[in-house]
Amino acid sequence: MTQRIRIIKTLIIAFSLSFPFSVNAQSVEEIIKGRKAMFSENYQNAKKISILLKSKKIEEAKPLLKKISDNYKKLLDYFPENSKEGFKTEALPSIWENKDEFNALMQKASDDIIKLAKAIETAEDLRKVQKELMWSNCTACHSRFRAPH
Ligand code: HEC
Repeated sequence: MTQRIRIIKTLIIAFSLSFPFSVNAQSVEEIIKGRKAMFSENYQNAKKISILLKSKKIEEAKPLLKKISDNYKKLLDYFPENSKEGFKTEALPSIWENKDEFNALMQKASDDIIKLAKAIETAEDLRKVQKELMWSNCTACHSRFRAPH
């Protein structure tokens, strides 16, 4: 192998290795503000869903449910070790002390929202299923992992 090919090969490997860590390449400020923005968006969408379901607009609620679920999955990558403080974060240190549990709750919240999208097709009590498969997960996580305010 010539020197040139070897250098090109090294560059390609280095480039492809840096790819999966693209989230970590974001600044701490971008990460903390980014996760706050996704939680806020989820809250706005959850409120819209409640209103839509009050008037039985089931099909209109579905894309918003999908959006919440996708945000939760993205949020799994928004709590790296270097984002414990700063930028008015309300994240508690208990997140990093119980990372597996925290991630499991986030994943459950994401899965439950998909279950909710299915449940609203047949549920008789729409408020009850929203409570069980959406709002209860907010409280379960906040009570342990978000600063009271
Ligand atoms: C698995 C954990 C978890 C779940 C589930 C969760 N949250 Fe949160 N939420 C957090 C954490 C942690 C923060 C603090 C983030 C920060 O300040 O860095 C937060 C912050 C927020 C914020 C404040 C955002 C800001 O601008 O500071 C809102 C609003 C919010 N969550 C709403 C919700 C709602 C509504 C739900 C349910 C539909 C929900 N969250 C589900 C963990 C969770």
